[in-house]
Amino acid sequence: MSNLIEQAKKTAAYTAVDENFPAHAKVVGIGSGSTVVYVAERIGQLANKAEFVCIPTGFQSKNLIIDNGLNLGTIEQYPELDIAFDGADEVDTLLNLIKGGGACLFQEKLVAVASKKFIAVADFRKKSPQYLGTNWTQGVPIEVVPCAWVKVSADLKRMGAETVTLREGGKAKAGPVVTDNNNFLLDAHFGEIKNVSALHSEIKALVGVVETGLFVNMTDKVYYGNEDGSFECV
Ligand code: 5RP
Repeated sequence: MSNLIEQAKKTAAYTAVDENFPAHAKVVGIGSGSTVVYVAERIGQLANKAEFVCIPTGFQSKNLIIDNGLNLGTIEQYPELDIAFDGADEVDTLLNLIKGGGACLFQEKLVAVASKKFIAVADFRKKSPQYLGTNWTQGVPIEVVPCAWVKVSADLKRMGAETVTLREGGKAKAGPVVTDNNNFLLDAHFGEIKNVSALHSEIKALVGVVETGLFVNMTDKVYYGNEDGSFECV
């Protein structure tokens, strides 16, 4: 990873925390991925960090919370969050997101919908000129119940997916990736996605689908770190 990209992630994350962290926050969501590492780092530098609890979106995120000396809580204990920060694989011009590149999409969406404010942080490569499916070429991540993956793959192809792949190479390296919820992941290519909401609803209606990585109308703001060291907030 080049230094420019790493610096862009840090700039996006630090600025997002500095500009949005509520002074009296009680419950804060921490997403997953390499950009959120800097979110947790910045929140860990806050003087009042003993006064709020952080809710993780998966295994990596739980460790980030612990490693930065933050209070760890669960979504079952705290189903209403003041704010959540998370990364994105691609962002369209309406602030819809593709997420799930790191296999954490279900808990990420659960935390995002439970939060009063949801802020995405990303480096410049994640900004689509218009539609989702332009920069992110790995397809829409879809979490499925394991025994349903063959049936859902066939359904997705009937719906028009160009390719559908069972994500492999998880912790055991051979065999399917298993999510934090013990499910499998499919990556389905639909080309440029012009109607994100319709595609999400159609996929979600398939029996066996737990959740899609399409985050529709959930994001309040996106912070991008740029190549030249600046940031952009949309
Ligand atoms: C994990 C995610 C991540 O937030 C997404 O993949 C972005 O990660 P990174 O900040 O490493 O680019 O959705 O499921």
